[in-house]
Amino acid sequence: MDIKTVCRRHQAKIIATVGPASDKPELIAQMIREGATLFRINLSHSSKQEAIRLFKVIRDGSALAGQNVGIIADIPGPKLRVSGLTEPIVLKAGDQLCLVQEGCPSCDYPVDNAISLNYPEIIEDVNVTEFLFIDDGNIRLRAIDKESYYVLFEALNDGIVKPNKGVHLPRTHLRIGFPTQEDLDWVEFLCENDLCDFMALSYIRSVGDVQRIKEIIKEKKKNIFLIAKIEKHEAITHLEEIAQAAYGIMVARGDLGIELPLEDIPHIQKKIIRFCNQMGIPVITATQMLESMVESPTPTRAETADIANAILDGSDAVMLSAETAISRDPVQVIKTMRKIIEKTESHIDYQKLIDERSRFVQNDVSDAIANGASRIAKTINASCIVCLTSSGSTARRISKYRPQVPIYSMTNNANIINVCELMWGVIPLHVPLTDNVQESIAIAVKYLVDFHQAKKGDRIVFTLGLPMGVSGSTNLIQVLVVGS
Ligand code: PGA
Ligand code: MN
Repeated sequence: MDIKTVCRRHQAKIIATVGPASDKPELIAQMIREGATLFRINLSHSSKQEAIRLFKVIRDGSALAGQNVGIIADIPGPKLRVSGLTEPIVLKAGDQLCLVQEGCPSCDYPVDNAISLNYPEIIEDVNVTEFLFIDDGNIRLRAIDKESYYVLFEALNDGIVKPNKGVHLPRTHLRIGFPTQEDLDWVEFLCENDLCDFMALSYIRSVGDVQRIKEIIKEKKKNIFLIAKIEKHEAITHLEEIAQAAYGIMVARGDLGIELPLEDIPHIQKKIIRFCNQMGIPVITATQMLESMVESPTPTRAETADIANAILDGSDAVMLSAETAISRDPVQVIKTMRKIIEKTESHIDYQKLIDERSRFVQNDVSDAIANGASRIAKTINASCIVCLTSSGSTARRISKYRPQVPIYSMTNNANIINVCELMWGVIPLHVPLTDNVQESIAIAVKYLVDFHQAKKGDRIVFTLGLPMGVSGSTNLIQVLVVGS
């Protein structure tokens, strides 16, 4: 890609969900120009044919903008819904509702109000005193009695149960989990058609859920990286193992806010981000960041503060859902988010940040090199850090230390360019490097000078590994003064 088009000033990355409001290449290109570096397709709203079209729209938009982007395919996971209901049921607090097995009409139920779910085994899984939340928690019920063929619930508030609404059981351990057969079909389909750079895994509960998909991708010999969505209480319990197995983590506040009391979300967000920051794992804060902009041209004060706080918490990326998928002006949404990020970052104390992060350097050559390069860049006022990398892993490690200057991740491996788009502060560039170190450094410097990203007298910190081109071999730091 042409570095002239890389005019990014913000370091935290922006992820935009593509939907009916944004599914045109021209719009995608405008969103990229305003600062979006990754696009997400939520596959729960999509057929395979439609997905293929959307992936193409994003790649076409990227070509139009002259800038690469990362694509995240969001695998739906088990989504429970009300099934077998034709007419809405009006409930008042205290009313009873029976959860029944579909196709069991002759059974004798205690009340007429009855619904089923698209998961018949639910009757066995639920226990008395557990909760049933319908429609994003708008209707809340508690189980008060149970027989082998039904569970009786009592409504805790007024509401109308409508057909096909989503359902959550925040206290129940469900035997159905990620991945469903449909999820496995998506994984296979995405691999076979080379459609995405990342897969986001919904409703995962354990490290095994992540490993299972990782193995399928490995068998298919694909370069697709996994983002574990933390949106179940079990996933919070197993955060450490999950984060270590996945490539990145998403704080999926939408579903988390149903699984847990809302007031728990801010501190859990901070806890997840802190852990990922210490481990150097990219972490995304998601959901409702600019929700009011689905309808309105400007955000609320609270939303503005939420984005700023997510950045200050240490998010590597922030995500937009309905705001770019079904809103009135997705380009304006990206612009708004970018401006908030830029202003917030302009107030960061980078010296303090790198000092804090340096406490978590690992006993590992690449990590130590990344930390050293970031500290040297700060001490000598370097204009940028350039990592010559074949896997992008050094760029990811440098990103962990949050240097103030751009991190150019230069590679001749086109396959990893898009993946680097998730990394905080990293600008991936496809540059024709060679096996020779001094030659490659000269090519890199010429590239930056030609595109006005470095000038005579600038100090540049390089990280690289010998032998060149071998992944995971980073073992050198070199400082170069341009033109000397
Ligand atoms: P979703 O995930 O948008 O796919 O539900 C994000 C969330 O739950 O916050
Ligand atoms: Mn979710």
